[in-house]
Amino acid sequence: MTLHPPTPALTDGVVTLRPWRDDDLDQLVAACQDPAIARFIPIPVPYTVADGRAYLERTSREWASGAKAAFAIVAADDDTRLLGAINVAVVGAAGNSGYWVAPAARGHQVARRALRLLTDWALAELDLGVIILEIRAENPASMAVAIACGYHEAGRLDVNLATGTKGGLIFSRLAGDQR
Ligand SMILES: CC(C)(COP(=O)(O)OP(=O)(O)OC[C@H]1O[C@@H](n2cnc3c(N)ncnc32)[C@H](O)[C@@H]1OP(=O)(O)O)[C@@H](O)C(=O)NCCC(=O)NCCS
Repeated sequence: MTLHPPTPALTDGVVTLRPWRDDDLDQLVAACQDPAIARFIPIPVPYTVADGRAYLERTSREWASGAKAAFAIVAADDDTRLLGAINVAVVGAAGNSGYWVAPAARGHQVARRALRLLTDWALAELDLGVIILEIRAENPASMAVAIACGYHEAGRLDVNLATGTKGGLIFSRLAGDQR
């Protein structure tokens, strides 16, 4: 089932989540040179322009197939300024979300704002019963983001569900959980 990007776009007045556009390519490729993103997100290393192009093409296919809703996180007052990425892969009534913030934009609650917007939208509009986050134990910043957005640590898995690589902690937010 096709996923439809929310209209109007999701925003809290500081960050906006919108579908990726071709003109995000340069900023996407620049951000993905960051070693912290490569450490915690399964992206190609080195990350090339061709990788960026393939990602942009893939995200539009994933919206169309209903597999994943992938958003660029941009500044609410300038939707050409890329701050990061956030997505939720959908299988039945379960979502699996991941995110990164470009190095220059970190430490300003961009991830927290984006995850709140995505979580509220996905639970309500996609009718999900649960969203999980897979976070490595050595990533306290991401855990702080998860907890601030109402996720709870559910346990540890040796294998990453999304990638089949080394696992970590599972955080979950159920539709019925308090924010
Ligand atoms: C994790 C990441 C998304 C956070 O983005 P951000 O926009 O800087 O996050 P926020 O500003 O919303 O929140 C970060 C929180 O982590 C806290 N934090 C940062 N470093 C920390 C550390 N070493 N130990 C504990 N908490 C830490 C901050 O204090 C902040 O919490 P606060 O707002 O309560 O003070 C970003 O660092 C990133 O892209 N990292 C690389 C990719 C990645 O790890 N993605 C997540 C994979 S699960």
